[in-house]
Amino acid sequence: MKAADLRGILHYTARFRDRVFVLNVDSAVLASDNFRNLLLDISVLRSLNIRIVLVHGCSVQVKALADEIKLSPSDLDGMGITDAATLRLAILASNRLAHEILMGLNDTDQRAVITNAITAHPAGILNGVDQQFTGQVDRVDVAFLETLLNQDVIPIISPLGFDGNGQTYRVNSDSVALEVSEALMANKLIHITTSNGARAAGHLSAQVSVEEADDYIRKHRSELSAPMLSKLRHGVRACRNGVQRVHIIDGTQDEALLSEIFSNEGVGTMIHANEYLAIRPAMKKDAGMIMKLIRESVESQQLAPRTRRSIEERIGDFYVFEIDRNIVGCAGLKSLHDAHPPAAELECLFVAEAHENRGIGGKLMLYAEEQARQRGARRLLALSTQAFNYFAHKGGFREGSPDMLPPSRRAAYDKSGRHSKVLFKDLT
Ligand SMILES: CC(C)(COP(=O)(O)OP(=O)(O)OC[C@H]1O[C@@H](n2cnc3c(N)ncnc32)[C@H](O)[C@@H]1OP(=O)(O)O)[C@@H](O)C(=O)NCCC(=O)NCCS
Repeated sequence: MKAADLRGILHYTARFRDRVFVLNVDSAVLASDNFRNLLLDISVLRSLNIRIVLVHGCSVQVKALADEIKLSPSDLDGMGITDAATLRLAILASNRLAHEILMGLNDTDQRAVITNAITAHPAGILNGVDQQFTGQVDRVDVAFLETLLNQDVIPIISPLGFDGNGQTYRVNSDSVALEVSEALMANKLIHITTSNGARAAGHLSAQVSVEEADDYIRKHRSELSAPMLSKLRHGVRACRNGVQRVHIIDGTQDEALLSEIFSNEGVGTMIHANEYLAIRPAMKKDAGMIMKLIRESVESQQLAPRTRRSIEERIGDFYVFEIDRNIVGCAGLKSLHDAHPPAAELECLFVAEAHENRGIGGKLMLYAEEQARQRGARRLLALSTQAFNYFAHKGGFREGSPDMLPPSRRAAYDKSGRHSKVLFKDLT
Protein backbone atom coordinates (compact mmCIF):
# COMPACT_ATOMS: atom_id res chain seq x y z
CA MET A 1 0.00 0.00 0.00
CA LYS A 2 1.23 3.49 -0.84
CA ALA A 3 1.39 6.31 1.71
CA ALA A 4 -0.72 8.34 -0.75
CA ASP A 5 -3.58 5.83 -0.27
CA LEU A 6 -3.64 6.68 3.43
CA ARG A 7 -3.83 10.38 2.61
CA GLY A 8 -6.81 9.62 0.40
CA ILE A 9 -8.59 7.86 3.24
CA LEU A 10 -7.93 10.77 5.59
CA HIS A 11 -10.29 12.82 3.46
CA TYR A 12 -13.16 10.54 4.49
CA THR A 13 -12.39 10.05 8.17
CA ALA A 14 -14.11 13.15 9.55
CA ARG A 15 -17.10 12.52 7.30
CA PHE A 16 -17.64 8.95 8.43
CA ARG A 17 -16.61 9.16 12.10
CA ASP A 18 -19.37 7.67 14.32
CA ARG A 19 -21.63 7.09 11.30
CA VAL A 20 -23.52 3.80 11.11
CA PHE A 21 -22.81 1.49 8.17
CA VAL A 22 -25.07 -1.55 7.87
CA LEU A 23 -23.31 -4.38 6.04
CA ASN A 24 -25.61 -7.02 4.57
CA VAL A 25 -23.37 -9.98 3.74
CA ASP A 26 -24.69 -12.68 1.41
CA SER A 27 -24.26 -16.26 2.54
CA ALA A 28 -22.24 -17.01 -0.64
CA VAL A 29 -19.70 -14.36 0.39
CA LEU A 30 -19.45 -15.87 3.87
CA ALA A 31 -18.67 -19.18 2.20
CA SER A 32 -16.08 -17.65 -0.16
CA ASP A 33 -12.28 -17.50 0.18
CA ASN A 34 -12.51 -13.74 0.58
CA PHE A 35 -14.50 -13.90 3.82
CA ARG A 36 -11.39 -13.46 6.03
CA ASN A 37 -10.25 -10.45 3.99
CA LEU A 38 -13.69 -8.95 4.36
CA LEU A 39 -13.39 -9.21 8.15
CA LEU A 40 -10.04 -7.43 7.96
CA ASP A 41 -11.64 -4.64 5.92
CA ILE A 42 -14.35 -4.36 8.59
CA SER A 43 -11.56 -3.91 11.14
CA VAL A 44 -10.15 -1.05 9.05
CA LEU A 45 -13.57 0.63 9.11
CA ARG A 46 -13.81 0.16 12.88
CA SER A 47 -10.35 1.68 13.33
CA LEU A 48 -11.78 4.82 11.69
CA ASN A 49 -14.59 4.84 14.29
CA ILE A 50 -17.24 3.82 11.78
CA ARG A 51 -20.03 1.95 13.58
CA ILE A 52 -20.74 -1.37 11.93
CA VAL A 53 -23.88 -3.49 12.09
CA LEU A 54 -23.46 -6.85 10.38
CA VAL A 55 -26.53 -8.52 8.91
CA HIS A 56 -26.06 -11.87 7.18
CA GLY A 57 -27.96 -14.35 5.05
CA CYS A 58 -27.74 -18.14 5.29
CA SER A 59 -29.25 -19.66 2.11
CA VAL A 60 -26.03 -21.29 0.84
CA GLN A 61 -25.47 -22.94 4.21
CA VAL A 62 -29.13 -24.06 4.47
CA LYS A 63 -28.74 -25.72 1.07
CA ALA A 64 -25.46 -27.39 2.12
CA LEU A 65 -27.04 -28.73 5.32
CA ALA A 66 -30.08 -29.95 3.41
CA ASP A 67 -27.81 -31.78 0.93
CA GLU A 68 -25.98 -33.36 3.87
CA ILE A 69 -29.16 -34.84 5.29
CA LYS A 70 -30.82 -35.32 1.88
CA LEU A 71 -33.71 -32.94 2.52
CA SER A 72 -35.21 -30.47 0.03
CA PRO A 73 -35.57 -27.15 1.80
CA SER A 74 -38.91 -25.45 1.15
CA ASP A 75 -37.23 -22.08 0.79
CA LEU A 76 -33.69 -20.81 0.43
CA ASP A 77 -33.73 -17.06 0.77
CA GLY A 78 -36.44 -16.36 3.30
CA MET A 79 -38.84 -15.08 0.64
CA GLY A 80 -40.86 -18.27 0.03
CA ILE A 81 -42.49 -20.79 2.35
CA THR A 82 -40.48 -22.02 5.33
CA ASP A 83 -41.66 -25.36 6.67
CA ALA A 84 -40.65 -26.68 10.13
CA ALA A 85 -37.71 -28.75 8.80
CA THR A 86 -36.31 -25.79 6.81
CA LEU A 87 -36.69 -23.51 9.82
CA ARG A 88 -34.60 -25.98 11.87
CA LEU A 89 -31.92 -25.92 9.16
CA ALA A 90 -32.02 -22.12 9.01
CA ILE A 91 -31.53 -21.86 12.78
CA LEU A 92 -28.64 -24.33 12.65
CA ALA A 93 -27.01 -22.61 9.64
CA SER A 94 -27.46 -19.13 11.17
CA ASN A 95 -25.92 -20.18 14.47
CA ARG A 96 -22.92 -21.76 12.74
CA LEU A 97 -22.40 -18.72 10.54
CA ALA A 98 -22.78 -16.24 13.37
CA HIS A 99 -20.24 -18.28 15.33
CA GLU A 100 -17.79 -18.17 12.40
CA ILE A 101 -18.25 -14.41 12.11
CA LEU A 102 -17.64 -14.04 15.85
CA MET A 103 -14.48 -16.10 15.57
CA GLY A 104 -13.20 -14.17 12.55
CA LEU A 105 -13.87 -10.84 14.21
CA ASN A 106 -12.16 -12.07 17.35
CA ASP A 107 -9.07 -12.84 15.27
CA THR A 108 -9.02 -9.20 14.20
CA ASP A 109 -9.54 -7.96 17.78
CA GLN A 110 -13.11 -6.78 17.21
CA ARG A 111 -15.79 -7.24 19.83
CA ALA A 112 -19.10 -8.53 18.51
CA VAL A 113 -22.31 -10.11 19.80
CA ILE A 114 -25.09 -12.15 18.22
CA THR A 115 -28.32 -10.28 18.83
CA ASN A 116 -32.05 -10.91 19.11
CA ALA A 117 -32.89 -7.39 17.93
CA ILE A 118 -35.50 -8.37 15.34
CA THR A 119 -39.11 -8.90 16.31
CA ALA A 120 -41.01 -10.70 13.57
CA HIS A 121 -44.54 -11.81 12.88
CA PRO A 122 -45.65 -14.47 10.41
CA ALA A 123 -45.78 -13.47 6.75
CA GLY A 124 -49.17 -15.20 6.87
CA ILE A 125 -51.23 -16.50 3.98
CA LEU A 126 -50.22 -15.07 0.61
CA ASN A 127 -52.26 -15.85 -2.50
CA GLY A 128 -54.04 -18.49 -0.46
CA VAL A 129 -50.82 -20.23 0.58
CA ASP A 130 -49.68 -20.36 4.23
CA GLN A 131 -46.06 -19.18 4.39
CA GLN A 132 -45.69 -21.11 7.68
CA PHE A 133 -42.44 -20.04 9.43
CA THR A 134 -41.49 -17.28 6.99
CA GLY A 135 -41.68 -14.05 8.92
CA GLN A 136 -41.80 -10.32 8.34
CA VAL A 137 -39.80 -7.81 10.33
CA ASP A 138 -42.10 -6.14 12.81
CA ARG A 139 -39.70 -4.07 14.93
CA VAL A 140 -36.01 -3.39 15.36
CA ASP A 141 -34.73 -2.99 18.90
CA VAL A 142 -32.96 0.30 18.25
CA ALA A 143 -32.08 1.00 21.90
CA PHE A 144 -30.34 -2.38 22.18
CA LEU A 145 -28.36 -1.89 18.96
CA GLU A 146 -27.38 1.64 19.92
CA THR A 147 -26.18 0.46 23.34
CA LEU A 148 -23.88 -2.02 21.61
CA LEU A 149 -22.66 0.51 19.06
CA ASN A 150 -21.94 3.03 21.82
CA GLN A 151 -19.77 0.37 23.49
CA ASP A 152 -17.80 -0.24 20.25
CA VAL A 153 -19.42 -3.65 19.82
CA ILE A 154 -20.45 -4.96 16.38
CA PRO A 155 -24.03 -6.32 16.51
CA ILE A 156 -24.46 -9.45 14.37
CA ILE A 157 -28.01 -9.91 13.08
CA SER A 158 -29.02 -13.29 11.65
CA PRO A 159 -31.97 -13.74 9.26
CA LEU A 160 -34.19 -14.85 12.13
CA GLY A 161 -36.88 -12.93 13.98
CA PHE A 162 -38.59 -13.66 17.28
CA ASP A 163 -42.23 -13.07 18.15
CA GLY A 164 -41.85 -12.86 21.94
CA ASN A 165 -44.04 -15.96 22.37
CA GLY A 166 -41.42 -18.62 21.85
CA GLN A 167 -41.61 -18.74 18.07
CA THR A 168 -38.74 -18.03 15.68
CA TYR A 169 -39.33 -17.02 12.05
CA ARG A 170 -37.09 -17.07 9.03
CA VAL A 171 -36.79 -13.55 7.64
CA ASN A 172 -35.19 -12.31 4.46
CA SER A 173 -31.81 -10.69 5.17
CA ASP A 174 -32.36 -7.87 2.62
CA SER A 175 -35.51 -6.85 4.53
CA VAL A 176 -33.69 -7.10 7.85
CA ALA A 177 -30.84 -4.91 6.55
CA LEU A 178 -33.34 -2.38 5.20
CA GLU A 179 -35.33 -2.14 8.42
CA VAL A 180 -32.18 -1.90 10.54
CA SER A 181 -30.71 0.82 8.29
CA GLU A 182 -33.89 2.85 8.46
CA ALA A 183 -34.31 2.40 12.20
CA LEU A 184 -30.70 3.46 12.89
CA MET A 185 -30.75 6.20 10.24
CA ALA A 186 -27.66 4.59 8.78
CA ASN A 187 -25.32 6.60 6.63
CA LYS A 188 -24.75 3.62 4.36
CA LEU A 189 -26.37 0.28 3.66
CA ILE A 190 -23.86 -1.92 1.85
CA HIS A 191 -25.06 -5.13 0.22
CA ILE A 192 -22.04 -7.41 -0.04
CA THR A 193 -23.03 -9.95 -2.67
CA THR A 194 -21.38 -11.96 -5.43
CA SER A 195 -21.78 -9.35 -8.18
CA ASN A 196 -21.22 -5.64 -8.63
CA GLY A 197 -24.87 -4.81 -8.90
CA ALA A 198 -26.42 -3.82 -12.17
CA ARG A 199 -23.15 -2.11 -13.05
CA ALA A 200 -21.69 -5.52 -13.89
CA ALA A 201 -24.21 -5.95 -16.69
CA GLY A 202 -23.06 -2.60 -18.09
CA HIS A 203 -26.60 -1.28 -17.73
CA LEU A 204 -26.30 1.09 -14.85
CA SER A 205 -23.58 3.60 -14.12
CA ALA A 206 -21.59 3.44 -10.91
CA GLN A 207 -23.64 6.11 -9.15
CA VAL A 208 -27.35 6.51 -9.69
CA SER A 209 -30.02 8.56 -8.04
CA VAL A 210 -32.94 6.83 -6.42
CA GLU A 211 -35.17 7.92 -9.33
CA GLU A 212 -32.75 6.46 -11.90
CA ALA A 213 -32.58 3.18 -9.98
CA ASP A 214 -36.38 3.03 -9.78
CA ASP A 215 -36.68 3.68 -13.50
CA TYR A 216 -34.05 1.02 -14.21
CA ILE A 217 -35.95 -1.56 -12.15
CA ARG A 218 -39.17 -0.80 -14.04
CA LYS A 219 -37.51 -1.19 -17.45
CA HIS A 220 -35.25 -4.17 -16.72
CA ARG A 221 -37.23 -6.16 -14.16
CA SER A 222 -37.40 -9.27 -16.34
CA GLU A 223 -33.62 -9.32 -16.97
CA LEU A 224 -32.65 -9.04 -13.31
CA SER A 225 -31.96 -12.05 -11.12
CA ALA A 226 -34.28 -12.34 -8.08
CA PRO A 227 -31.49 -11.50 -5.57
CA MET A 228 -30.38 -8.44 -7.56
CA LEU A 229 -33.94 -7.22 -8.02
CA SER A 230 -34.45 -7.57 -4.27
CA LYS A 231 -31.30 -5.57 -3.49
CA LEU A 232 -32.18 -2.78 -5.91
CA ARG A 233 -35.76 -2.55 -4.68
CA HIS A 234 -34.73 -2.53 -1.05
CA GLY A 235 -32.03 0.03 -1.95
CA VAL A 236 -34.55 2.40 -3.48
CA ARG A 237 -36.81 2.11 -0.44
CA ALA A 238 -33.91 2.70 1.96
CA CYS A 239 -32.87 5.89 0.13
CA ARG A 240 -36.46 7.14 0.10
CA ASN A 241 -36.64 6.61 3.85
CA GLY A 242 -33.56 8.49 4.99
CA VAL A 243 -30.57 6.20 4.31
CA GLN A 244 -28.12 8.36 2.37
CA ARG A 245 -26.31 5.76 0.25
CA VAL A 246 -26.92 2.16 -0.70
CA HIS A 247 -24.07 0.21 -2.27
CA ILE A 248 -24.06 -3.18 -3.99
CA ILE A 249 -20.60 -4.70 -4.26
CA ASP A 250 -18.96 -8.01 -5.10
CA GLY A 251 -17.67 -9.24 -1.74
CA THR A 252 -15.76 -12.11 -3.34
CA GLN A 253 -13.27 -9.56 -4.76
CA ASP A 254 -10.38 -8.59 -2.52
CA GLU A 255 -10.55 -4.98 -1.22
CA ALA A 256 -13.98 -4.39 -2.80
CA LEU A 257 -15.43 -2.96 0.42
CA LEU A 258 -12.60 -0.47 1.00
CA SER A 259 -12.36 0.50 -2.67
CA GLU A 260 -16.09 1.20 -2.81
CA ILE A 261 -16.06 3.38 0.30
CA PHE A 262 -12.77 5.19 -0.14
CA SER A 263 -12.72 6.04 -3.83
CA ASN A 264 -14.83 8.39 -5.88
CA GLU A 265 -15.39 5.89 -8.67
CA GLY A 266 -16.15 2.92 -6.41
CA VAL A 267 -16.28 -0.64 -7.71
CA GLY A 268 -19.98 -1.47 -7.41
CA THR A 269 -23.32 0.25 -7.83
CA MET A 270 -24.25 3.11 -5.54
CA ILE A 271 -27.78 4.44 -5.18
CA HIS A 272 -27.93 7.86 -3.56
CA ALA A 273 -30.89 9.63 -2.07
CA ASN A 274 -31.92 12.81 -3.81
CA GLU A 275 -31.42 14.84 -0.71
CA TYR A 276 -33.02 17.95 -2.16
CA LEU A 277 -36.24 16.02 -1.75
CA ALA A 278 -35.65 16.34 1.98
CA ILE A 279 -35.91 20.13 1.63
CA ARG A 280 -39.37 21.64 1.35
CA PRO A 281 -40.89 25.10 1.72
CA ALA A 282 -41.90 25.75 5.31
CA MET A 283 -45.59 25.89 6.24
CA LYS A 284 -47.22 28.08 8.85
CA LYS A 285 -47.47 25.13 11.26
CA ASP A 286 -43.66 24.77 11.12
CA ALA A 287 -43.04 28.21 12.65
CA GLY A 288 -43.09 26.86 16.23
CA MET A 289 -40.64 24.10 15.36
CA ILE A 290 -38.30 26.55 13.62
CA MET A 291 -38.35 28.77 16.72
CA LYS A 292 -37.59 25.78 18.94
CA LEU A 293 -34.80 24.66 16.65
CA ILE A 294 -32.96 27.98 16.53
CA ARG A 295 -33.51 29.00 20.18
CA GLU A 296 -30.05 28.05 21.44
CA SER A 297 -28.29 29.64 18.49
CA VAL A 298 -30.20 32.85 19.09
CA GLU A 299 -29.20 32.75 22.77
CA SER A 300 -25.54 32.29 21.83
CA GLN A 301 -25.87 35.13 19.28
CA GLN A 302 -25.09 32.92 16.29
CA LEU A 303 -28.45 33.82 14.81
CA ALA A 304 -30.39 37.07 14.96
CA PRO A 305 -33.43 36.96 17.26
CA ARG A 306 -36.88 36.54 15.71
CA THR A 307 -40.41 36.16 16.95
CA ARG A 308 -42.75 33.38 15.96
CA ARG A 309 -44.96 35.99 14.38
CA SER A 310 -42.14 37.37 12.24
CA ILE A 311 -41.46 33.84 10.96
CA GLU A 312 -45.15 33.18 10.33
CA GLU A 313 -45.51 36.43 8.41
CA ARG A 314 -42.67 35.49 6.07
CA ILE A 315 -43.15 31.72 6.13
CA GLY A 316 -42.97 31.62 2.32
CA ASP A 317 -39.31 32.66 2.61
CA PHE A 318 -38.33 29.72 4.83
CA TYR A 319 -37.23 26.20 3.88
CA VAL A 320 -36.88 23.19 6.13
CA PHE A 321 -34.83 20.01 5.90
CA GLU A 322 -36.71 16.93 7.09
CA ILE A 323 -35.54 13.48 8.11
CA ASP A 324 -38.29 10.98 8.86
CA ARG A 325 -40.73 13.89 8.85
CA ASN A 326 -38.77 15.66 11.60
CA ILE A 327 -37.44 19.11 10.87
CA VAL A 328 -33.70 19.06 11.52
CA GLY A 329 -32.58 22.18 9.65
CA CYS A 330 -33.86 25.42 8.22
CA ALA A 331 -32.89 28.41 6.12
CA GLY A 332 -34.56 31.62 5.07
CA LEU A 333 -34.21 33.75 1.97
CA LYS A 334 -35.12 37.41 1.99
CA SER A 335 -35.37 39.34 -1.30
CA LEU A 336 -33.68 42.73 -1.00
CA HIS A 337 -35.79 44.78 -3.36
CA ASP A 338 -33.75 47.98 -3.27
CA ALA A 339 -30.43 46.23 -3.97
CA HIS A 340 -28.25 46.82 -7.02
CA PRO A 341 -27.45 44.34 -8.48
CA PRO A 342 -30.68 42.48 -7.52
CA ALA A 343 -29.87 40.54 -4.36
CA ALA A 344 -31.30 38.20 -1.75
CA GLU A 345 -30.09 37.43 1.75
CA LEU A 346 -29.58 33.90 3.04
CA GLU A 347 -30.65 34.03 6.66
CA CYS A 348 -31.43 31.82 9.63
CA LEU A 349 -29.33 28.89 8.39
CA PHE A 350 -29.45 26.25 11.07
CA VAL A 351 -28.85 22.51 11.44
CA ALA A 352 -29.67 20.60 14.66
CA GLU A 353 -26.56 19.48 16.51
CA ALA A 354 -27.36 15.76 16.18
CA HIS A 355 -27.39 16.13 12.39
CA GLU A 356 -24.37 18.39 11.93
CA ASN A 357 -21.48 17.55 9.61
CA ARG A 358 -23.58 15.52 7.19
CA GLY A 359 -23.67 18.19 4.53
CA ILE A 360 -27.22 19.34 5.41
CA GLY A 361 -26.13 22.96 5.94
CA GLY A 362 -24.36 22.84 2.57
CA LYS A 363 -27.49 21.54 0.86
CA LEU A 364 -29.69 24.19 2.44
CA MET A 365 -27.20 26.83 1.28
CA LEU A 366 -27.24 25.49 -2.29
CA TYR A 367 -31.01 25.21 -2.26
CA ALA A 368 -31.39 28.83 -1.12
CA GLU A 369 -28.88 29.88 -3.77
CA GLU A 370 -30.99 28.16 -6.44
CA GLN A 371 -34.15 29.84 -5.13
CA ALA A 372 -32.37 33.20 -5.18
CA ARG A 373 -31.43 32.66 -8.82
CA GLN A 374 -35.01 31.77 -9.64
CA ARG A 375 -36.13 35.03 -8.01
CA GLY A 376 -33.80 36.90 -10.35
CA ALA A 377 -31.15 37.75 -7.75
CA ARG A 378 -27.64 38.24 -9.07
CA ARG A 379 -26.03 38.35 -5.65
CA LEU A 380 -26.56 36.31 -2.49
CA LEU A 381 -25.67 37.97 0.80
CA ALA A 382 -25.23 36.37 4.22
CA LEU A 383 -24.61 38.08 7.55
CA SER A 384 -22.78 36.12 10.18
CA THR A 385 -21.21 36.67 13.58
CA GLN A 386 -19.68 33.20 14.07
CA ALA A 387 -20.03 31.15 10.91
CA PHE A 388 -18.28 33.39 8.36
CA ASN A 389 -15.60 30.75 7.77
CA TYR A 390 -18.36 28.23 7.11
CA PHE A 391 -19.91 30.44 4.43
CA ALA A 392 -16.47 31.07 2.93
CA HIS A 393 -15.13 27.51 2.96
CA LYS A 394 -18.31 25.52 2.37
CA GLY A 395 -20.47 27.97 0.45
CA GLY A 396 -17.97 29.85 -1.71
CA PHE A 397 -18.90 33.24 -0.19
CA ARG A 398 -16.40 36.11 0.03
CA GLU A 399 -16.12 38.74 2.71
CA GLY A 400 -17.70 42.03 1.72
CA SER A 401 -18.65 45.07 3.76
CA PRO A 402 -21.85 46.61 5.20
CA ASP A 403 -21.71 49.08 2.30
CA MET A 404 -22.92 46.28 0.06
CA LEU A 405 -26.28 46.24 1.86
CA PRO A 406 -29.15 48.17 0.24
CA PRO A 407 -30.45 51.13 2.30
CA SER A 408 -33.39 49.28 3.93
CA ARG A 409 -31.17 46.41 5.07
CA ARG A 410 -28.32 48.68 6.09
CA ALA A 411 -30.62 50.58 8.45
CA ALA A 412 -31.66 47.33 10.16
CA TYR A 413 -28.03 46.20 10.25
CA ASP A 414 -26.88 49.37 12.01
CA LYS A 415 -29.82 49.24 14.42
CA SER A 416 -29.13 45.64 15.45
CA GLY A 417 -25.65 46.44 16.80
CA ARG A 418 -24.58 42.84 16.01
CA HIS A 419 -21.70 43.97 13.76
CA SER A 420 -22.05 40.80 11.73
CA LYS A 421 -19.62 40.20 8.92
CA VAL A 422 -21.20 40.69 5.51
CA LEU A 423 -20.49 37.91 3.04
CA PHE A 424 -21.50 37.80 -0.59
CA LYS A 425 -21.58 35.44 -3.52
CA ASP A 426 -22.19 36.67 -7.06
CA LEU A 427 -24.60 34.40 -8.88
CA THR A 428 -23.65 33.92 -12.48
C1 LIG B 1 -23.19 26.31 10.54
C2 LIG B 1 -24.14 25.13 10.36
C3 LIG B 1 -25.38 25.60 9.61
C4 LIG B 1 -23.44 24.01 9.58
O1 LIG B 1 -24.35 22.96 9.30
P1 LIG B 1 -23.83 21.48 8.91
O2 LIG B 1 -24.97 20.75 8.31
O3 LIG B 1 -23.17 20.86 10.08
O4 LIG B 1 -22.75 21.83 7.80
P2 LIG B 1 -22.10 20.89 6.68
O5 LIG B 1 -22.33 19.48 7.02
O6 LIG B 1 -22.56 21.40 5.37
O7 LIG B 1 -20.56 21.27 6.83
C5 LIG B 1 -19.83 20.82 7.91
C6 LIG B 1 -18.46 21.46 7.89
O8 LIG B 1 -18.56 22.86 8.23
C7 LIG B 1 -17.71 23.14 9.34
N1 LIG B 1 -18.35 24.17 10.17
C8 LIG B 1 -19.49 24.06 10.88
N2 LIG B 1 -19.72 25.21 11.54
C9 LIG B 1 -18.72 26.04 11.25
C10 LIG B 1 -18.40 27.37 11.64
N3 LIG B 1 -19.18 28.09 12.48
N4 LIG B 1 -17.29 27.93 11.11
C11 LIG B 1 -16.49 27.24 10.26
N5 LIG B 1 -16.74 25.96 9.86
C12 LIG B 1 -17.84 25.38 10.36
C13 LIG B 1 -17.59 21.80 10.06
O9 LIG B 1 -16.43 21.77 10.85
C14 LIG B 1 -17.52 20.82 8.90
O10 LIG B 1 -16.22 20.86 8.34
P3 LIG B 1 -15.59 19.58 7.55
O11 LIG B 1 -16.55 19.26 6.42
O12 LIG B 1 -14.30 20.10 7.06
O13 LIG B 1 -15.52 18.50 8.56
C15 LIG B 1 -24.54 24.53 11.73
O14 LIG B 1 -23.37 24.20 12.44
C16 LIG B 1 -25.36 25.46 12.58
O15 LIG B 1 -26.58 25.41 12.51
N6 LIG B 1 -24.72 26.31 13.42
C17 LIG B 1 -25.41 27.19 14.33
C18 LIG B 1 -26.14 28.31 13.61
C19 LIG B 1 -25.24 29.13 12.71
O16 LIG B 1 -24.14 29.51 13.05
N7 LIG B 1 -25.78 29.40 11.47
C20 LIG B 1 -25.09 30.17 10.45
C21 LIG B 1 -25.19 31.61 10.76
S1 LIG B 1 -26.28 32.50 9.73
